[in-house]
Amino acid sequence: MVILVTGGTGYIGSHTCLALLEAGFTVIVADNLCNSRAETLDRVMQITNKEIIFYEIDVTNAASVEQIFTDHRIEGVIHFAAYKAVGESVREPLKYYHNNINSTLVLAEACLKHEVRRFVLSSSATVYGENDVPFVESMKLQPTANPYGESKIISERILRDVANANSWFSVAILRYFNPVGAHVSGLIGEEPRGTPGNLMPYITQVAKGKIGKLSVFGGDYPTVDGTGVRDYIHVMDLAEGHVAAMNLLGEGIHTYNLGTGKGTSVLELISIFEEEVGIKVPFEIMERRPGDIAECYAEVSKAKEELYWNVKRDIRDMCRDAWRFESNL
Ligand code: NAD
Ligand code: UFG
Repeated sequence: MVILVTGGTGYIGSHTCLALLEAGFTVIVADNLCNSRAETLDRVMQITNKEIIFYEIDVTNAASVEQIFTDHRIEGVIHFAAYKAVGESVREPLKYYHNNINSTLVLAEACLKHEVRRFVLSSSATVYGENDVPFVESMKLQPTANPYGESKIISERILRDVANANSWFSVAILRYFNPVGAHVSGLIGEEPRGTPGNLMPYITQVAKGKIGKLSVFGGDYPTVDGTGVRDYIHVMDLAEGHVAAMNLLGEGIHTYNLGTGKGTSVLELISIFEEEVGIKVPFEIMERRPGDIAECYAEVSKAKEELYWNVKRDIRDMCRDAWRFESNL
């Protein structure tokens, strides 16, 4: 099957390209490199010994997208390309609505025109807002406090309406929890620009000595030890979830949580990382970060039952693999 992967040079996209190639799919990547580097694809090709066709284009540009659909008989689309920084989305909402929503519109239009039947959208646990944990796919989505989350809710809605109007069009909405870690080769991983906003890359950079210490945002949440609890999922397990969705997606629209179903607190993660890597991570407990919730973890039985997908890697693998990649940089 020939799959168009938008945002395929990015963090999750590159690991998914690798998993797709290993599963025998033909992969075409469209990315404008606004948050990634083309060399990542060389690494993926080096690991798999397979080719990727790359288009450096902006997927909000309908003419550029049309060119790909005319050059190749695309059979499925996995749409990762988006901006993803929550804080920036509050400061520059139009940038987020423009990129994240227009890209979905342009790709959905191209799929209808070229009769491409399978579409997978990267969504996020952020759409659950302040529902009670564990988050279940059937929960009513909450209006979120930030334009990034809202852009995902709107993209989900657009695809739902398109699927309802075209019975042959199958959509998987994949709501990711907290992807961390890297491919076991240490050749590809998460490379945030500037100071990391997310916990795991921050921890690895403190461990490497690039940053003095970690600020733990909030020590007074109603959780196991007062720090925020999240459902960390190994990026390769997440990548394999996309392969499962492409293979098994039924007609209509289907929404799946991709997480482990287990929560880990910030302090627990620091301590497991220290044990696995053998390096101390100095930290200080600070004020809560605005917009954060206490706990976020998934109910994952739907993806297990319908996609026959299950995670294979645990939190220790996530720490070791994230560190291997950081040490190679
Ligand atoms: P990333 O920034 O590493 O990857 C996104 C890729 O899309 C980048 O390579 C970027 O250059 C590209 N891109 C952005 N806009 C584009 C455009 N208009 N045209 C072409 N390319 C464009 O991010 P990621 O962490 O790999 O996230 C992938 C997807 O998963 C995003 O949709 C994100 O919102 C979603 N997601 C990520 C997380 C997370 O914690 N990383 C959690 C939930 C959901
Ligand atoms: N944290 C710290 N210090 C840091 C960074 C984070 O203590 O320097 C804490 C946070 O307060 C939170 C936990 O670590 O309790 C995880 O924070 P991340 O920033 O790594 O992840 P979030 O859960 O806040 O958000 C991530 C993505 C969002 C996505 C969400 C759900 O950044 O885009 O997961 O999928 F929506």
